[in-house]
Amino acid sequence: MTVTKTIRRREFLGLSLGATGAVLLSQCSRGASPSSAPSSALAQAAVYSSEGGLLSFDLVAEEQRVKLGSRNANLLTYNGQVPGPHLEANPGDTVQIHFTNRLSQPTNLHYHGLHIPPTGSGDNVFLEIPPGESHTYEFQIPQNHPAGTFWYHPHYHGLVAEQLFGGLAGLFVVRSELDEIPEIQAAQEAFLVLKDFALDRSGNIPNPGHMAQMTGRIGDLLTVNGQFNPSLEIPQGGLLRLRLLNASTSRFFQLSLEEHPFYLIATDGGAIAAPVELNDLVLAPGERVEVLVKADRDPGQYRLLNQPFNPAQGMMGGGMMGGGMMGGSQNRSTTETVATLAYNGSTEPLPLPDQLIAIDSLPEPQTTRQFTLNHGMGMVFLINGKAFDHDRIDTQVSLNTVEDWEIINTGTMAHPFHVHINKFQVLSRNGQPEPYAAWKDVVSVSPGESVRLRIPFRDYAGKTVYHCHVLDHEDRGMMGVLDIQQV
Ligand code: C2O
Ligand code: CU
Ligand code: CU
Repeated sequence: MTVTKTIRRREFLGLSLGATGAVLLSQCSRGASPSSAPSSALAQAAVYSSEGGLLSFDLVAEEQRVKLGSRNANLLTYNGQVPGPHLEANPGDTVQIHFTNRLSQPTNLHYHGLHIPPTGSGDNVFLEIPPGESHTYEFQIPQNHPAGTFWYHPHYHGLVAEQLFGGLAGLFVVRSELDEIPEIQAAQEAFLVLKDFALDRSGNIPNPGHMAQMTGRIGDLLTVNGQFNPSLEIPQGGLLRLRLLNASTSRFFQLSLEEHPFYLIATDGGAIAAPVELNDLVLAPGERVEVLVKADRDPGQYRLLNQPFNPAQGMMGGGMMGGGMMGGSQNRSTTETVATLAYNGSTEPLPLPDQLIAIDSLPEPQTTRQFTLNHGMGMVFLINGKAFDHDRIDTQVSLNTVEDWEIINTGTMAHPFHVHINKFQVLSRNGQPEPYAAWKDVVSVSPGESVRLRIPFRDYAGKTVYHCHVLDHEDRGMMGVLDIQQV
């Protein structure tokens, strides 16, 4: 029945879908109202899917002249593309990435959100791949890995912000249980990689000034999949599954869709238990969400809007994606359209799913720790008073234990706190319990806030890191080494 529905929808739209069924393109011919008219149909990055349990491919990091919207830009690319190729794999698959560094700087790869070994040729951010050299990453995605929107990007300390801001980032999607829920299968799927860029007149990325490195470099060009205000089409009655990644170095997004609420179905670490209706989505750098949108309004065009978000201001009243409005008033005149949803045709109304995937509650923690985030004199960013040193172990935990971490921001800017390898659940913010359970790997902590999270250390021993995902802050010291010890 689901299959029938899906086919009917595809035929109706007359689309050719990619191998994953993930491609959602719209034809648009626009009149001349340049400021608000969408520029072109939403593009999706080239999909590299696993076959027969193996995802194997070559990946080259290289500076290239590419198109960003209609502009020429000299960017850092994976396989000549911005964003990089979209990877898709299933639980149990082996991943083999033959990686070559053709940048003029050292780099490496990090698999953000994947639960895989932090050692060897897995998610090992301590590796250095010098210019001109190659390395093969190889790891297995565990059989019980949840479905989710993960991503890959460079993680060579000191150059992460520069390389990511240059364009190096791509999606890494794991398909599993969530993708098999009939209502979700029936929805049209679209991936939106949100990313800001800055370009000078010759298409180069300008050097960030001191201030930009302090607040984190932010560009004024807001792109979705490397496009400016692309459009995507949906029949009236249809259901859209939007999968969003904030791949910006430092910019927060605060999104709303005209006349449509979002139904949140998944966060960083995968599905939540049941859809949650939201009017706004705040995405800190590194965060992902999946939402469903019901196309149940009058035929027309609806803008996906981004309101400027001041990370120093913090988020009053309800967590990252909570009740919407930020404290104080934002300057509405600088709201920008990042994409446009256009109704085209109609279909019988598709329902939302009632239930998604239950989230196990975690046992009481063995240990509670505190991490205080602040900056020091000059341009140094600190966790518990210390700047990153890759030879020092900051936090030692035991494999197969659960801990509570209290993240306290005593500084003046928001810091999205991120942990590699293991995901966590946020328990409370300033003592207020979170409205619903969710698996996260990034949580933004505003000035004056204290966030309590519970984290299980499962399956993999070894050294990894936690850090602020404003990557200028990470490069300037706001990162610590976590050693997960086999006991
Ligand atoms: Cu997406 Cu350590 O980062
Ligand atoms: Cu990460
Ligand atoms: Cu920070």
